[in-house]
Amino acid sequence: MHTIVTGANRGIGLEFVRQLLARGDMVDAGVRDPARAGDLHELGAAAGGRLRVHACDVADAASVQAFARALGDAPVDLLVNNAAVYGGERQMVDDLDFEEAARTFATNALGPLRVALAVLPLLRKARGAKMVHLTSGMGSIADNASGGYYGYRMSKAALNMASKSLAIDLRGAGIASVVINPGWVRTDMGGPGATTSPAESVASMLKQIDALTLAKSGAFLNWKGGEYPW
Ligand SMILES: NC(=O)c1ccc[n+]([C@@H]2O[C@H](COP(=O)([O-])OP(=O)(O)OC[C@H]3O[C@@H](n4cnc5c(N)ncnc54)[C@H](OP(=O)(O)O)[C@@H]3O)[C@@H](O)[C@H]2O)c1
Repeated sequence: MHTIVTGANRGIGLEFVRQLLARGDMVDAGVRDPARAGDLHELGAAAGGRLRVHACDVADAASVQAFARALGDAPVDLLVNNAAVYGGERQMVDDLDFEEAARTFATNALGPLRVALAVLPLLRKARGAKMVHLTSGMGSIADNASGGYYGYRMSKAALNMASKSLAIDLRGAGIASVVINPGWVRTDMGGPGATTSPAESVASMLKQIDALTLAKSGAFLNWKGGEYPW
């Protein structure tokens, strides 16, 4: 299988690359700064040429276009749209940084859509290609019982909508699009108190992704299996 992973230098993205390489896949990894992707390069050194590392800032249109060109023209089976930011602390009703919220939206909502459209020609070349966008339980309207975190919550809710439209628009091309909630994961974003290791979350998400067919395209998946409330 040939997979693209964004935000691949740390956290959940890095773990996706680790597990995909371990099972023999070919991976194109996008990172904001390849010079600061030591752990990723280490994985590549042991992968016998199956990992390529590229610059890709998902919030920057020119960077995403250059990334897509660098991929070449081989078919791509899976896009893991993982890169995202949390958006800082000033996301509350009594202290909201609108500029930071806009940057969060550009990265978390427009970024994955921009990447998906840029690599779409390569996904169209594969049979049964899939797009998986990493969302969050915080992007669920039904699950929002605590409020706040406007920038992050709104960006992920918008990503959910983009994925649903992609599922509809690309069904005819045989390409599935879903969002998946990775759970609460021990990364820089999730923090040390999170309940799930990156290894456990990614192993379980890969099971859901492997089982994904067009019949489930458009869904909001949960990392443990099943669907998450919108
Ligand atoms: N951890 C959790 O508990 C949790 C829960 C729900 C959802 N998620 C979602 O899961 C995904 C991965 O999260 P994580 O916990 O692994 O986060 P993380 O540890 O903060 O890592 C985020 C990754 O995204 C990259 N990134 C940020 N902005 C980028 C941009 N403009 N262009 C390219 N890459 C960019 C970062 O690169 P740099 O090193 O350059 O900053 C980093 O590689 C995200 O979509 C997140 O929203 C995580």
